[in-house]
Amino acid sequence: MLVVPAVRAQERTAAKPFDLIEWNGGKFLYGVDYYPEAWDESQWEKDATMMQEAGINFVRLAEFAWVKMEPQEGHFNFDWLDRALKVLNAHGIKAVLGTPTASPPAWLYEKYPDIAAMDPSGTRYRYGSRRNYCLHNPAFIAATRRIVTAMAEHYKDHPGVIGWQIDNELGDPKCFDPASRAAFQKWCQRKYQTLDALNQAWGTIFWGHTYQAWSEIPLPWNTLFNAHNPSLALDFDRFQSDSTHEYLDIQTAILREMAPRQAITHNEMGMYSGVDYYDLNRSLDFVAWDNYPMFEKDYAQYTGPGLAHDLMRGSKDNQNYIMMEQEGGLPGWSVFWGRQAPPELYRVWAYQSVAHGADGVCYFRWRTSRYGTEQYWQGVLDQDSYRNSRYQVVARTGKELGQLTDLLHGSKVVSPVAMLVSPDSRWAFEIQPLVEDFHYDRQLHDFYDAFRRASVSVDVAFPQSDLSTYRVVAAPALFVADQSLADKLTAFVANGGTLILTFRSGVKDGHNVVTNRTLPGAFAELAGVAIHEFDPQLNEEQEVVGPGQSHFPARVWSDILEPTTAKVVATYGKGYYAGKAAVTENRVGKGLVYYVGTESASPFFYDRLIARAAQKNALALNTKLPHGVEVAVRQKAGTKILFLLNYTSNPQTVPLDQAYHNALTGKTEPMDIQVLPYDVKVLTTQ
Ligand code: GLA
Ligand code: GLA
Repeated sequence: MLVVPAVRAQERTAAKPFDLIEWNGGKFLYGVDYYPEAWDESQWEKDATMMQEAGINFVRLAEFAWVKMEPQEGHFNFDWLDRALKVLNAHGIKAVLGTPTASPPAWLYEKYPDIAAMDPSGTRYRYGSRRNYCLHNPAFIAATRRIVTAMAEHYKDHPGVIGWQIDNELGDPKCFDPASRAAFQKWCQRKYQTLDALNQAWGTIFWGHTYQAWSEIPLPWNTLFNAHNPSLALDFDRFQSDSTHEYLDIQTAILREMAPRQAITHNEMGMYSGVDYYDLNRSLDFVAWDNYPMFEKDYAQYTGPGLAHDLMRGSKDNQNYIMMEQEGGLPGWSVFWGRQAPPELYRVWAYQSVAHGADGVCYFRWRTSRYGTEQYWQGVLDQDSYRNSRYQVVARTGKELGQLTDLLHGSKVVSPVAMLVSPDSRWAFEIQPLVEDFHYDRQLHDFYDAFRRASVSVDVAFPQSDLSTYRVVAAPALFVADQSLADKLTAFVANGGTLILTFRSGVKDGHNVVTNRTLPGAFAELAGVAIHEFDPQLNEEQEVVGPGQSHFPARVWSDILEPTTAKVVATYGKGYYAGKAAVTENRVGKGLVYYVGTESASPFFYDRLIARAAQKNALALNTKLPHGVEVAVRQKAGTKILFLLNYTSNPQTVPLDQAYHNALTGKTEPMDIQVLPYDVKVLTTQ
């Protein structure tokens, strides 16, 4: 059983958002992930010199070096790390230390084999990779406390250590061993108090699963023909997220107590759904995350990393964050995953991070490993340490960010639009995806991309977020919704907000149980529609007919809408429900609610939809942006900072609303401004 510590970080951070640039002594945080333990000590001095020349002022260290720091149980050795820090600090480079728990030493597994997580079929993972420990194993928790305590004791007053990264990319795997099962049963007991309440909530009468003792409750094992109760499965996802948070808190509690002057973060994974980041981040001083834009096949598709940035920012109420791993080279494991990007694109991606709210950029990794699984995952340098083109680009970017620091300091992204992400809905769709082609994140992108194509800043909100500052909230596929969320959205609309809902909203209650109200359940009145029929689209054969006889392909799902108080905006074009409503608009109080009953593969469908919503809400769109060019804005006290990012191989002309100053040259730029291929312009009103 894990113990939840009494002191949580929000008590320390709630009053004032963490100031990252101040934390780094007034310098924009510019770093690399460095593994001195894997290179000959004679190379460290040369590395630190080359880093300093590239403007690097911090490194992340040690997150995979447990065995070097604790070579035997309870015997610690920090001499090598002290020496590495001395070399780095002498070049003006400070460190964030990673607690090394993502990759425990072999001796620990040898002594306590049950540390390894168990997969659903009952097989334990074998030693030899990383991230395969069980969160509920007492020996692992004890070992975690020991190494974190020893590190904190040794480095709490070190002037060259500014903070801590907990573990590395917390999340998977889920463990299905007896210790985890017992922990899940305890979690259920805490949540439901009585078995009657649990049986009622999960509807265990279905297939006669009623539990009569807490010890009977199983862990889910979902396969096509062994489908477990979706209510149990959703609670298991919540349990996993809570367990991850509790594990993080074991570490944050030690560090806060022993090293109160050093900040605490964790490197997160953008769109990863396994952890409820909004909940987890309450324990951190600021968010850090790992960004690999080259997973997008088409580099002009900047909204992939864009949405992940905005989600990460939104998961701590839009406080600025840092990139703990910003792509510094081509990814790969046993094979290279993709083709090389033009070196200049690494600069554009670094600026994209800054444009979305990063106050720090740290590249993964300083140099490509010679060893192990990641020999094909490029760092900034290759194994030969040659000053290659990526290094030149990193050095140039570092110089520029140094120059821009005062301008950037204190500026933030301010958005009129929010995408509402519901972790519960996301999990529920992972458990039961409706149809094979349903993707929750694609639903987010349908709307997000349309707003970003029109140059509108977008935040990501969570059910707990304050929505009152937004003009438009798009809440696609709000599948699992309780009454309090429905009430919050109702109040948002009543006060003049525009809400966009889509198909399969309001279907499930908080227990992943289908509502017995007419769909869309808790949203029926707000949307002014009733749904008595729906049609899963297996063959993508439907279409939507909008104003002016515009036709759009429709896929995935059709909610057949019967307006009660809503107005019909578009209808279905085919089949037995041709002519019935597909998209509606409902006026409620001072606000508007759109219900979009289907999904379209056509971006124009969404462009039209948001244009209509924007027009009714006096929201300014810039619909003349060239494809593959992103405009992102940070603001502070009346000053706007515009980033024009060209992800394409062609020069592009961007029409702007006024003339701006170039923040790097100080010159005034024309209103129709040219951005060279794979280049960035940073503009300001100052
Ligand atoms: C079979 C079973 C039923 C029900 C249906 C639909 O016919 O006997 O209990 O599960 O399939 O799945
Ligand atoms: C993740 C991890 C790193 C490294 C990179 C590249 O982001 O945090 O340790 O493995 O991926 O694979």
